[in-house]
This record gives sequence, structure tokens and C-alpha cells, in this order.
Amino acid sequence: TIHPVLLCGGSGTRLWPLSRKSYPKQFAKLTGDESLFQASARRLSGPEFAAPLVVTGSDFRFIVLEQLAAVETAPANVLIEPSARNTGPAILAAALQIAGHSGTDALILVAPSDHVVPQAEQFRQAARAAVPAAQSGQIVTFGIRPDRAETGYGWLELSTATEDFAPVPQLLKRFVEKPDLATAQNMLNGGLHLWNAGIFLFTAGTLIEAFETHAPDMLALVREALSGAQADLAFTRLAATPWGGLQDISIDYAVMEKATNLTVLPYAGAWSDLGGWEAVWREAGPDDAGVVSEGPTTAIDCENSLLRSESETLQLVGIGLKNIVAVAMPDAVLIADKDRAQDVKLAVAALKKQG
Ligand code: GDD
Ligand code: MG
Repeated sequence: TIHPVLLCGGSGTRLWPLSRKSYPKQFAKLTGDESLFQASARRLSGPEFAAPLVVTGSDFRFIVLEQLAAVETAPANVLIEPSARNTGPAILAAALQIAGHSGTDALILVAPSDHVVPQAEQFRQAARAAVPAAQSGQIVTFGIRPDRAETGYGWLELSTATEDFAPVPQLLKRFVEKPDLATAQNMLNGGLHLWNAGIFLFTAGTLIEAFETHAPDMLALVREALSGAQADLAFTRLAATPWGGLQDISIDYAVMEKATNLTVLPYAGAWSDLGGWEAVWREAGPDDAGVVSEGPTTAIDCENSLLRSESETLQLVGIGLKNIVAVAMPDAVLIADKDRAQDVKLAVAALKKQG
């Protein structure tokens, strides 16, 4: 069996004002009846999967259980972080917890809960195809064919190009997290790189060893946080003092860029990290003029724009808009140049300062 670990801790500030600190984007119904979190849990459920372990902050623990109950997956366990320390500590804590009850050979599939991966069965097949590599001590990443010089992703360097993009595991030469634009452009042109999907398969023991080698201080603190954890019902609350001493660092920087036992499984199905409004616009399927209208909105002579109203009673009208993102919530409105939609996180930081 594979133990799914669902990461559910980011606050998704690039999707403000829909995504809020108190209600991040993975729980919102962005593109359908289910939230991205629910779709992720469903994708990683079925006969070959154990009950999921969800890693999240205290504020979200009840939303998590409520949303999981609605999709009727196996009852989850929830690992609660006293504060967000990024994916490095979160994934390590999950691996230690699973190793504790299922042993170091336990297979773990870590997945973000805010991605769009519509072909669930195709994804499960890819995960199955990756199992032997993980069992042999590899950290398996999932590679997406890149179509732009994206600087917000990790890039995976292959030894040989994957012409047919078959789901066959390949050893990785190198992992480059969030390159600058020139580097990303070179990698795109060279044809030897794939995007890192942010999904990983490994055994608990392999991951713990990787931290032992590349981040031993983190391993010691996370171990301490877990041994001092308090369990009640489905929740395991990590101990705050050791956790507070952890550096904020993603698994990509802490381990993946340094590890040499990396394998990639090319994944040809659709995949998107709904990392910002530009991605929501792209995923929603713009019309011939490049316009996406959602909710009670009217677009007149608009091009390449997203108009979205989150309230039945709030009419949003755009006239002659070009390359604009306009999102209306009952208590907040965003209007931005679509090319600068990533900077919404700056607005959130500024608002936080204002209090
Ligand atoms: N529990 C928990 N705690 N989850 C977290 C935390 C945390 O402190 N920080 C982030 N997460 C969750 C996010 O909610 C998201 O689901 C996932 O972990 C990845 O974090 P992001 O912050 O979205 O990472 P990224 O998108 O910048 O980069 C990662 O994903 C890319 C693909 O989407 C990297 O793995 C890249 O290499 C990769 O290309
Ligand atoms: Mg992301």
C-alpha cells in the first residue's frame, strides 16, 4: 500500500482575494463542485492506498475533516504544525510519523492539495509505475513537459530526451529549483528538462536518510517535535518549541537540489499548479478572445482577461479590458494587469502591514 501525504499548509496568497489566510485556495471550489483538496484526496484513494495523512495548520483541522467526510475517503489522520515552516519540515514530519507506525519501508506519496490533475486514473498508474524505483531507494519525482520558461517551478534535468514521453522511470541528473528567467529559457530550449510536479514518491526510510545527509539539524528538531507531540482523536499536534526552532525551507532546496538518488517519472496527463490568477484563467479555458467570465459578469469588447464575481448579487462589468484580472468578492476587489498577477502576494503583504 501507498501512504498518501497531503500538504495543506500554504495560504495561497497569490489567489487573493478568493484565497484568504482563514480559508486558503485549496479548500475553495475554484474550478468545479469539489475543492482542489477534495479532488486531491479522491485522486489518492482506492484499493492501493492507505488512509491519507494530512499535514496542515491548526486553523484548518476541521475544514480538512469536514471536506474529507464529504468525499468519503478513508478517515484521515491530521498532523498539525504549530506554525508553517514550509514543505521541508512538513514532509519530514509526515515521513517520521508514518515510519513510526508502518516501518521505514512504507511507501509514501506526497502531493500538494492545490493542484489540478484531472486524469486521476492515469495519475494513479504513473504512481504505480514509480513504485519499484522508490522501493530501490530512489526519490521519485513526476515530470511534466514544460511549455514556457516558468521560474516558479523546479526543473528536472534528464540525461536523454524523452521523445515519446512514456511513463518509464529515468535517473535524474540534476534538480534546479526556481531558476531565473534566462536559465529557465535555456532549459526550455534545450529539451532535456521537465517541470517538477511537486509530487514525490519514496519510502519513509529513504527520505529520513536524505535529511540525515543533507539537513541533520532539521531531522533532530522534527524528531523532537514528533516525540513531544500530543495526539487527540484524528489529530497529532507537533510540539511547538522544537518546531519553532526550524528553518523555513522547502524540500526542494533542503533535499532535492542536493540528493543524488533522484528518479523522474514523466507524466503526460494534464497538470497545473493553480499558483495564481493567470493559471486559473488558463485552466478555465478562455474563449476565442481570451476571455473567461465566471459568476454574474459581463465582458464587452474584452480580450485576454479574467472576470470573476464570487457573489450572486455582485455584478461585474468589464468594457474594453485587455490583459486584466478582475476578481470581486463581497468584501474585496482585485484589479490587476494579468502579467503582474503573481504580484498579488505583494498586495497581501501590504494589507497585512496595514492590519
Ligand atoms: N503543511 C504544509 N506546511 N504545507 C505547505 C507548507 C507548510 O508550511 N508550505 C507549503 N505547503 C504546501 C502548499 O500548500 C502546496 O500545496 C505545496 O505544499 C507546495 O508548496 P508551494 O508553496 O505551492 O510550492 P511551489 O509551488 O512554490 O513549488 C513547489 O511546487 C512546484 C509545482 O507546483 C516545488 O516543489 C517546485 O519544484 C514545483 O515545480
Ligand atoms: Mg504551488
